[in-house]
Formats: sequence, structure tokens, C-alpha cells
Amino acid sequence: MEKFSSAFRQSVLAWLADHVPESRIRHVLGVEQMAIDLARLHHQDTEKAAQAGLMHDLAKYFKPQRLLDMATAEGLPLDPVDRHNPHLLHADVSAVVARNEFGIRDPEVLAAIANHTLGSPGMGPLSAIVFLADTLEPGRGDTPELVNLRQLSQQDLVQAVWMTCDYTFSHLLATRRLIHPRALLTRNWFLQQATSSHSPSYLLSGHVYPPQPTPNSRFNSMAN
Ligand SMILES: [Fe+2]
Ligand SMILES: [Fe+2]
Repeated sequence: MEKFSSAFRQSVLAWLADHVPESRIRHVLGVEQMAIDLARLHHQDTEKAAQAGLMHDLAKYFKPQRLLDMATAEGLPLDPVDRHNPHLLHADVSAVVARNEFGIRDPEVLAAIANHTLGSPGMGPLSAIVFLADTLEPGRGDTPELVNLRQLSQQDLVQAVWMTCDYTFSHLLATRRLIHPRALLTRNWFLQQATSSHSPSYLLSGHVYPPQPTPNSRFNSMAN
């Protein structure tokens, strides 16, 4: 198992032990492992996946005002839905904490942390993997829907992101909660990619990824 350098990993785990409850650490470890597994399966960097998985929820228990203050200081765009529910900012703010506390500079890792809740239209494979692992790690349960989505995540990252967005939306609608426009943009983008007969290449943080060479994994050509 390619977990990144143990001393660094231990320092992140020690930080988490001081900032999140035990149950959340179990979830974090589940996300880390599923991200590693998906990265290996889809020919992505397993160490980056492990890092992003382990650090994705650093700011999960920050108070709403702290999240708003940090997001504002960072110049992050704030949607009215963010102001109504600042907890949604914990993903973007976790990336800020990963950079400030742990010196993470890799744009793919930072993007994967920032995109784990709402995604982002055009996000790359590492972001897609952590997005999927966050919703589908084994600790989330074993309903038929989750079992199917887990299986799909092993076969096709693009379709899995689309279908996982729909799964999350169905719960938000059933409980009459707000849907963040960024999540809708993510869902629409991945739906269009999944149903397009000739998907174009796409952009993430200024990096151009080549189009997919095989029908089964649209991200195969992006191995690094
Ligand atoms: Fe989260
Ligand atoms: Fe999470």
C-alpha cells in the first residue's frame, strides 16, 4: 500500500486527532484507502490520492464564522448558498489548511481537497477520485445504490461522478435542502462528458488533459 511517507502521514493524523472526532478519522482513513485503490485502478498517482484523501476534511469542524473568514481572506468566491450554509466551505478551506499547516503545494492535491464536496466542472481525475471516495467509502454504508456507485467508480470515473451527483441531489431534494450551483455545474459537465460520443479534452488549473483513448476509462491517458 503506497501510503505517503509515514512521518508526514503521522503528523497529519496527529493534527486530525486534535481537531476532529474519532468517527471522522475512521471516515478519513476510508477515503484515503478508497482514493488509493481508485488511483491504482485508473492509473493515477497513488501518493497524491493518499495525501488528498487524508487531508480532505481538515476543516470539517471549523465553526461557520471561521470558514467564512478564511474563505474571504483567501479571496474565494462566495455564493449565497455558502453564506446560508458555511459548512460547504470546509472543502475549500481544508485545502487552505493543507497548504498552510502542511506545506502542500501540489495543485492537483489542493484541487482534489477543495473539490471533494461540490466538485467542479472540468475537474481532473484526482479530484474525481477523491470526490467519489468521499461519498462512496465503505463507512457510508452498503445500500444497493452505494454498492452500484462503488462498482461504477471502478469502471468509469466520468459516469460515476455524474451518477454520484444525482445520488446526492436525490437526498438533498428529499430533505428539502439547498443545492449549490457549483454542484449542479459539476453534474451537468460530467453528464455531458459521459453522454457525448466524442468527449473533448478538458482543463483543470491550467493543465490540458488529452482526450481518453479507451471507452472504459476516460482518464486512462492521464496517468502520471
Ligand atoms: Fe468533507
Ligand atoms: Fe469527507
